[in-house]
Amino acid sequence: MTQKIFIKTYGCQMNEYDSSRMADVMAPHGFVRADTPEEADLVILNTCHIREKASDKVYSELGRLRSLKTARAGEGRQMIVAVAGCVAQAEGEEMLRQAPVIDIVVGPQVYHRLPEMVARARARNRIVDTEFPAVDKFDALPESRQVEGPCAFLTIQEGCDKFCTFCVVPYTRGAEYSRPVRQIEAEARNLVLRGVREITLLGQNVNAYHGDDGNGGECGLGPLVDVLSRIEGLERIRYTTSHPRDMDDALIEAHRVNDKLMPFLHLPVQSGSDRILDAMNRGHTRQMYVDLVARIRAARPDIALSSDFIVGYPGETDEDFAQTMDLIRTVGFAQSFSFKYSPRPGTPASAERKQVPEETKARRLEILQAELTAQMRRFMESCVGRRFDILLEKPGRYPGQMIGRSPYLQSVNVVAPHARIGDFVTVDIVAALPNSLKGELAGRSGSRQVGRN
Ligand code: 5AD
Ligand code: SF4
Repeated sequence: MTQKIFIKTYGCQMNEYDSSRMADVMAPHGFVRADTPEEADLVILNTCHIREKASDKVYSELGRLRSLKTARAGEGRQMIVAVAGCVAQAEGEEMLRQAPVIDIVVGPQVYHRLPEMVARARARNRIVDTEFPAVDKFDALPESRQVEGPCAFLTIQEGCDKFCTFCVVPYTRGAEYSRPVRQIEAEARNLVLRGVREITLLGQNVNAYHGDDGNGGECGLGPLVDVLSRIEGLERIRYTTSHPRDMDDALIEAHRVNDKLMPFLHLPVQSGSDRILDAMNRGHTRQMYVDLVARIRAARPDIALSSDFIVGYPGETDEDFAQTMDLIRTVGFAQSFSFKYSPRPGTPASAERKQVPEETKARRLEILQAELTAQMRRFMESCVGRRFDILLEKPGRYPGQMIGRSPYLQSVNVVAPHARIGDFVTVDIVAALPNSLKGELAGRSGSRQVGRN
């Protein structure tokens, strides 16, 4: 009998990848994707624990699901509710106590056991499984089946050993683990056979990747990109998220020589103050970051950078914050994400006595975001007049219009009546809108793109 599964994903792209793996693992058991929780027999909330609001949202969603589940039961139908992801991992049993609507709490390392858990939940058992098993979850999960569009994520590394003092990831995702090269290559080939042209390699510390190379050695991210770039039909490679400490020479070299590696790099710095960077246990100074950016730009002059920032880390003074603003002006970012520090239970920074008042955090965030937004606008405007290859991802709002991605991940609108999704088209950028670019067709470029502009 066909049943329906609805998955709501919060947080990072690794959760998005995991959500499609969960759909894949349930598919052989007769589950097809539903568009709304109302029509679903199994609802999974794939949660994120990284900042306060992320986990609050889960509890309010659970509130909504409770009435839905009760209404369903009134009709004599069962609805199973599962909570997956990092909140599940961090809170485990506690979630069952807090929210009686939950049937299953499943941590990120055991998604392959989901079918069995759903069967047990059917018999009205409530289940918590947040183990970190010895088997590799990627070995146990089926090959990706459901591919939507020409761009896909591929998790190559998971977990983190860095223990930045503000961050829950080392606790929720566990120790750093890299998948073997052969397994990644096979998955990438499979994606390409299904029409994928652009792959984003994912990992919490993706550039710390050091997978088994199949010959008794280890392979870093630079050489892995080279291996993948030899796959015919795969035209673009990206990776995220990186740590400045793991940007090695081989990876920088890959940016210099490999045209399939896109000139856009998310390289979070968090703060521009040495004092705060040290307190955060980031393991690098402000100057080391600036020097690193200079080396990357020397290798790939047209590279655009993006970063994450935290304001109001415990003990952050006006002077520390001024240092962060100064770093932003020194480096220049094409895009950025910025957050108010939020204490995460169990992390060292949450126990610090010198917490920064909310108003101060809010004020600093506003100042920081104003600068970052202005930098983004300048970058978008600097694209006007340039010629880009765009990978077409979806139809636009009007007939004949398509939306694609630039090498810098920007959305580009273009009128291209004869093109299809998955095609590369060459466009001249004619206007910069707040969150996208407008392009005009310069001619079809076939399937190979011009790497540098
Ligand atoms: N408070 C605020 N921001 C955080 N991040 C991680 N942990 C916290 C926290 N406790 C941010 C960092 C990280 C991004 C994914 O989320 O900037 O790079
Ligand atoms: Fe968290 Fe730091 Fe690891 Fe990134 S490097 S996942 S911020 S502990």
